[in-house]
Amino acid sequence: PARPRVFSGIQPTADSFHLGNYLGAVRHWVALQETHDAFYCVVDLHAITAGHDPALLRQRTRVAAAQLFAVGLDPDRSTLFVQSQVPEHPQLAWVLGCITGFGEASRMTQFKDKSQKHGNDRSSVGLFTYPILQAADILLYQANAVPVGEDQRQHLELSRDLAQRFNSLFGQTFTIPAPHIVKDTAKITDLQDPTAKMSKSSSSPAGIIDLLEDPARSAKKIKSAVTDTGREIVFDTETKPGVSNLLTIHSALSGRSIDELVAAFAGRGYGDLKKELAEVVTDFVRPIQERTRGYLDDPAQLDKLLASGAEKARAVAATTLRSAYERVGF
Ligand code: ADP
Ligand code: NA
Repeated sequence: PARPRVFSGIQPTADSFHLGNYLGAVRHWVALQETHDAFYCVVDLHAITAGHDPALLRQRTRVAAAQLFAVGLDPDRSTLFVQSQVPEHPQLAWVLGCITGFGEASRMTQFKDKSQKHGNDRSSVGLFTYPILQAADILLYQANAVPVGEDQRQHLELSRDLAQRFNSLFGQTFTIPAPHIVKDTAKITDLQDPTAKMSKSSSSPAGIIDLLEDPARSAKKIKSAVTDTGREIVFDTETKPGVSNLLTIHSALSGRSIDELVAAFAGRGYGDLKKELAEVVTDFVRPIQERTRGYLDDPAQLDKLLASGAEKARAVAATTLRSAYERVGF
């Protein structure tokens, strides 16, 4: 039997992925290649909803793709492509927008949060219709599964509603995507504020470890990470969020269980844990950085990989769009 299809996308809105992106999302993309027919997308169309710099966007899109290849996405097994190279995405989004209620779209909490931040009158229509484009991203590939974090649950729910609505209005066309819940997914917190998630929009760069930054810089950040009162190294996200975060990162990167680490650090101090974690992070990012540089140093080869990804994606997307258009009456 054919393997189930998975779709996921990531925005090229930073100079590098951070450890939270890697451990919370991208790492699972790599693992899903084993069991799924995977379509992964650098969603540059989604990256222009709140103002952007064109040259920077182009650069970040390439760096994002290079990093994804570097951490192990295999272009022979998975389809990795850039969203703007597959014009079917906005084409299907228009159709889906026409069966989305204005009130329904207005209830998306991420839009409410983000538009409040920018000021309602200055928010773009693109930010408002973003979840509809996201539905098109998913439905074009007839994805069975979509890995989702808590923040994307409502958007996936909209994708499911739109697929069901289209199918019942015009005839069976789209697979209804299900959330793919990753077991033991690591939620990584900010090194300077261990109660908040590590995020590119965090106020302090010292709280974020970027995959592509100088490992010496990462080591410094780890050494000045906020830890908790007491001196014992135990895992307790309620009372010891800082130490627990360091243990989580260590465990995820070294493959050793939290229990094993806690036992190994019995009787030792926070300084020892930080020192060892800095080494673990350094050993982990060095080869990724080298491979990323390798892809970026050969732009023609990277272009070729992305063109071939887009071609594979288009073959599927065009077939879906054609049948959707036909059912709508085009
Ligand atoms: P950011 O929070 O830095 O803006 P995004 O929202 O672009 O990152 O998230 C990209 C992916 O990385 C999403 O799948 C998201 O769930 C995951 N992710 C982001 N931050 C973390 C984190 N601190 N821990 C675990 N996963 C995260
Ligand atoms: Na975010």
